[in-house]
Amino acid sequence: MSESSGPEGAETPVADVAHNARVWNYWLGGKDYYAIDQQVGDHVTSMYPSIREVARADRAFLGHVVRYLAGEAGIRQFLDIGTGLPTVENTHQVAQRVAPSSRIVYVDNDPTVLIHARALLTSSEEGATDYIDADAHHPSAIVDAAADTLDFVDPVAVIMLGILNFIADTDEASRIVDTLMAAVPSGSYLVLTHPTLELGGEANEEAMRFWNENATPPITARDRAEVAGFFRGLELLPPGIISCSRWRPGHAADDEKTVAQFGAVARKP
Ligand SMILES: C[S@@+](CC[C@H](N)C(=O)[O-])C[C@H]1O[C@@H](n2cnc3c(N)ncnc32)[C@H](O)[C@@H]1O
Repeated sequence: MSESSGPEGAETPVADVAHNARVWNYWLGGKDYYAIDQQVGDHVTSMYPSIREVARADRAFLGHVVRYLAGEAGIRQFLDIGTGLPTVENTHQVAQRVAPSSRIVYVDNDPTVLIHARALLTSSEEGATDYIDADAHHPSAIVDAAADTLDFVDPVAVIMLGILNFIADTDEASRIVDTLMAAVPSGSYLVLTHPTLELGGEANEEAMRFWNENATPPITARDRAEVAGFFRGLELLPPGIISCSRWRPGHAADDEKTVAQFGAVARKP
């Protein structure tokens, strides 16, 4: 990461602990990470070689879903929580290419994401983007802040890719999802990805233990039933809860390799 990457006058934060947002950026082939992120990221890769494929599949899933939601589903508002560092094809770029009037609010609690957030604020003239520095543990505060940009009378796509795995307690993760989905009207959507030890992800157990001893925030995997629990009361869209690499609107792509990361989309009735 270049020393000049911080905002004017601010010091670049010292990194002695690997952070998920930066290691994820490293796995995605970005440039916004420190030596410690690379070391931990490489060690995880040696234990769980498919992690880079997981990261890439997760971003590709974001593209497929946002194109579908902004296109066929007619969604114009997106609340992307656990945004990560800006990369190519961020939510607003995908959505506003389909529908320039799309409004997007990004949320993350990582200080490095905050520093780089201005790259997420390049909205089309017709639409809007905003960034909120907030913790997912406080969903009502997120909704309040997002209301400056989003109108909660109209449908909103709540996007939480690779973030509920950082909420260790499943009841707490469900409470967060339920609070967010209670704040949006009928016709809104919930979009999730989540790592699992199923779908061939067994090797991730050891890698996650290493992560939790050497990096932050601590991570947890969930099985299909636990992920299904987050969609309680919502209508799952076909193809359901599936390897995120294979999710396409209405069907599963047969030619894509399975990765140990569930992806699913559901509509609020
Ligand atoms: C695995 S990355 C996923 C990034 C992006 N959503 C994607 O799928 O490419 C998870 C992101 O969630 C953020 N995150 C983790 N815990 C969080 C919390 N409690 N509140 C807000 N953001 C959180 C991390 O900082 C990181 O940027």
